[in-house]
Amino acid sequence: MRIGIAYDLKTDFQAQASGPDDALEEYDSPTTVEGIELALRSRGHTVTRLGGGRRFLAAVLESPPELVFNIAEGHGSRSREAHVPAVCEMLRIPHTHSDPLTMAVALDKAMAKRVVAIAGVPTPRFAVIESARELASLSLEFPLFAKPLFEGSSMGIRKNSRIANAGELDQRVGTLLEHYHEPVLVEEFCDGPEFTVAVLGTGPTARVVAPMEIVPKKIAVADFVYSLDLKRGANWREELEYVAPPRRDATFLRAIEKVALDAHRALGCRDISRVDVRVGRDGAPKFIEANPLPGIAPGWSDLALLWEGLGRTYEDLVNSIVDEARERLRLP
Ligand SMILES: Nc1ncnc2c1ncn2[C@@H]1O[C@H](COP(=O)(O)OP(=O)(O)O)[C@@H](O)[C@H]1O
Ligand SMILES: [Mg+2]
Repeated sequence: MRIGIAYDLKTDFQAQASGPDDALEEYDSPTTVEGIELALRSRGHTVTRLGGGRRFLAAVLESPPELVFNIAEGHGSRSREAHVPAVCEMLRIPHTHSDPLTMAVALDKAMAKRVVAIAGVPTPRFAVIESARELASLSLEFPLFAKPLFEGSSMGIRKNSRIANAGELDQRVGTLLEHYHEPVLVEEFCDGPEFTVAVLGTGPTARVVAPMEIVPKKIAVADFVYSLDLKRGANWREELEYVAPPRRDATFLRAIEKVALDAHRALGCRDISRVDVRVGRDGAPKFIEANPLPGIAPGWSDLALLWEGLGRTYEDLVNSIVDEARERLRLP
């Protein structure tokens, strides 16, 4: 097949970057694009690089590929991850990963929580805060967690995102509102073990590949926040252990997988998603967020580490996504 890769590189935005120091965190590096390209070539596909934004638009108008492999995060709004799939839909170009609706809903963490909650998936109680004044009438139970409403890649998430009292809450929410210029999601803190779950497929054919447990090596689980501070550090492998599949009781794992699969289906994810699940104070697993456009950096992104843990190759990861798309779209 002729496959075009849609992506946004950190360097595409460096010149205009302003604001928080993690503002470019979700964008990709050339090694990821190379990794995907090699993986696709290894199966005999012809690969072109489409880039993102206007460059992507010009490229697909000029010479549309048979399939777009989409990892473009987009830019500038809570609908940014919907930009490339929306263009593909308009031009009738088949593409991997979810459609624009799912991309936009999943990026707004409160929207996603409302959708999965109605489908019966447990998720921590929450509030969306648009101004610090609203904190006075909050009726959630401490400890709480605060994060920007529509960011990914741990943006705005730090050790102090876990909040023990009203004073800390005022301070943390104030800082987030000031730096990210978007509402803040405040939710009840889940102090149990943390998992991220890979799901492949679409609708009735969707199934869990495996959960991966993210284990802090130096901090108690109850205080753990899977944050940028930890993952960005040079020695992140000494701070974090990634266990796929987790060494846990089968019934417990099934409950975690059910949260992920039900969320994937409720949100209408296609081909692949990575769903974050954490065990709450009541011992039950809770939906934290869904990533229909999960990071796929070789040897680094959670999804790549999960595949590694299962003894599967990066090539297999990339081509599993393509195979799901081909089957869903009935492409040859
Ligand atoms: N309600 C919560 N309770 C406990 N930990 C949380 C909660 N929400 C987020 N976290 C922690 O913060 C991390 C990042 O949050 P997440 O919503 O997944 O944001 P991102 O989009 O940056 O991955 C999670 O992996 C988890 O460790
Ligand atoms: Mg996450």
